[in-house]
Amino acid sequence: EKGGYDTYMLKEIYEQPVALTNTLIGRLHDETGEVNLDIDLDPSSFKRISIIACGTAYYAGLVGEYLIEQLARIPVEVDVASEYRYRDPLVSKDTLAIVISQSGETIDTLEALREAKRGGARTLGIINAKGSSMTRELDDTLYIHAGPEIGVASTKAYTSMVGAMLMLALWLARARGTLTQEAGKELLHAARALPRLVEEALEPARVERIKAVAEKYAHSRDYLFLGRGVNAPTALEGALKLKEISYIHAEGYAAGEMKHGPIALIDAALPVVVVATESRLLEKTISNVQEVRARGGQVILLLSDGDTENAQHADEVLYVPRSHEMVSPVVNVVALQLLSYFTAAHLGRDVDKPRNLAKSVTVE
Ligand code: F6R
Repeated sequence: EKGGYDTYMLKEIYEQPVALTNTLIGRLHDETGEVNLDIDLDPSSFKRISIIACGTAYYAGLVGEYLIEQLARIPVEVDVASEYRYRDPLVSKDTLAIVISQSGETIDTLEALREAKRGGARTLGIINAKGSSMTRELDDTLYIHAGPEIGVASTKAYTSMVGAMLMLALWLARARGTLTQEAGKELLHAARALPRLVEEALEPARVERIKAVAEKYAHSRDYLFLGRGVNAPTALEGALKLKEISYIHAEGYAAGEMKHGPIALIDAALPVVVVATESRLLEKTISNVQEVRARGGQVILLLSDGDTENAQHADEVLYVPRSHEMVSPVVNVVALQLLSYFTAAHLGRDVDKPRNLAKSVTVE
């Protein structure tokens, strides 16, 4: 049932190219640059978007915020569901509430959805599990079609959620005229390339390299993950994954925030993973890396293939396939999933069933 893999988590990491293909299939049209989501939602019927989710799905929402605001120029806020439902949120008919959930059963997200509906919001779900509780209450559901996810730590659902957010952003942008046909086509091609790029990210030589780095630092007490822009959530997700399955304390930060506090943590015993792939902000990220190095931190850099210039700033380099910045969170996170996986496996943890965690959280 684990298809020859030691764990469900590893199987699901390797299923990502297929899961992503299923998320994107039939929805993107190359010739016209159009996106067809098969939902009833009128893209001009709201003025603001509220994204609500928990855990890993919340991080997919943070990527979504970035994509929707950049591409479709609609104001977006993102909340963790447990906060949203109790903060008396300002909701109106002008609000589109988007809930993101793998299981479709998470009680906080379900209750937040009900709260948004009471306020008059139109609702859309980005959901994996067919026929789940949320889908019965949503106005529209955009299924991610990632297939069943059994490992407690979410992997393929995350990348498919981000894939779905990208399609949604493109769809909104085209409908609202904020993206030229040209730019739309470029992004559509970038989205189409995702299954192939994730497959490349899983090439044996890369995986071996990640495993070696994971094992080298597996006895660290803490870990720090940094990223910027659309990859700031990638850093948060990297830290969450490591905490969940290895029990190593990890923090994820937007790299620019480092000097406002976390820089005090840095010493020679602290591995700092920095997502420093091709981006408009790469130079700024590298200057954050130099700040870490100057204080003796061990720098593990995620660099785009071919970036030999920035390798000098690292103790360890993990090369990842080059991708369009807007789709890069999907490609980059794979290396971080594997880093957590091999760390936890090396420490003998029960990767599929980490202590204290359940696959779907149906109690408050
Ligand atoms: C992390 C993880 C959790 C879930 C969260 C939401 O690996 O699995 O953080 O992402 O409990 O679950 P869903 O998406 O089912 O609502």
